[in-house]
Amino acid sequence: MTRHFLSTLDWSRAEIEALLADASELKATRRAVRRNDLAGKSVALVFFNPSLRTRSSFEIGVFEMGGHAVVLEPGKGAWPIEYRDGVVMDGEAEEHVEEVARVLSRYCDLIAVRAFPKFQRWEDDREDAVIQAFAKYATVPVLNMETITHPCQELALALTLRERLGTTDGKKLVVTWTYHPRPLNTAVANSALIIAAKMGFDVTLLCPTPEYVLDARYMDAARTFAKENGRSVTVSHDVDAAYRDAHVVYAKSWGALPYFGRWDEEKPIRDAHKHFIVDERKMALTLEGNGLFSHCLPMRRNVKATDAVVRSPSSLVIDEAENRLHVQKALLRRLIGDAK
Ligand code: CP
Repeated sequence: MTRHFLSTLDWSRAEIEALLADASELKATRRAVRRNDLAGKSVALVFFNPSLRTRSSFEIGVFEMGGHAVVLEPGKGAWPIEYRDGVVMDGEAEEHVEEVARVLSRYCDLIAVRAFPKFQRWEDDREDAVIQAFAKYATVPVLNMETITHPCQELALALTLRERLGTTDGKKLVVTWTYHPRPLNTAVANSALIIAAKMGFDVTLLCPTPEYVLDARYMDAARTFAKENGRSVTVSHDVDAAYRDAHVVYAKSWGALPYFGRWDEEKPIRDAHKHFIVDERKMALTLEGNGLFSHCLPMRRNVKATDAVVRSPSSLVIDEAENRLHVQKALLRRLIGDAK
């Protein structure tokens, strides 16, 4: 059976630790060792949404391992795609995902997909229909470059925290909601919650109101992982209490799930919580005033976090972005490399 990489939910902690060790080795030897793990292999990178880090780190990572990446943007240089089965295709879409996935499987060794939610009905978006359709029809591994989770970001965060903290067990990590003028995807928040719980952190999810709590699929999974490590997942709406003695503050904005498709009703709540910005006063409450800060990027400065926080020595944002390259190389090697 083709092994896809759609989320880390079914990855054990040991598997993740092994991949991080592999990524560390690739990072340490990047300039010294010429790699050919993907020699003669091709990868399709299918982007339904914009990207800076994901696109560049995947293209460069494939190149550095001797392979070739082709970038496709459906609806912009590539044909718009229908992903539902059994529909009369008399709208915008020119071809069906079944043909797209089967054709790309003949050309490529792996298909990577970025497909954000439609933001109309969470009940629909949580099915992750686009990437699931690719996974159904592809005969090569399909890799998630961010849909309703962002597993590559998870791995980069995990590697970065491993580098800076060493052991992560029993340390406190806060995933804090922050303001953004638009409602954003819950993917990175879901992912941060999962990976932090899996790595043995005590996790606090800080958000404005109960409506901003994440989908039960990810809350429950995180609680299960935390329990396996003898740790906990706590929801808080108290900013100062959440930051107090934290080792790590991870910031992300997301839209409240009950308001999907009714964003004008969510806006007043979001607007009333601009004070969730990560600033120097809040970071001073973290462990010995020295807690680490990170964010997946892109990030609006002085909306989500202040200039001073982003530029401080405790900020991991650039390290985490760099580590996308190394963990993805390790992942590609695992999925399609000659040594798999
Ligand atoms: N963090 C992240 O995925 O960045 P891009 O959206 O720029 O790819």
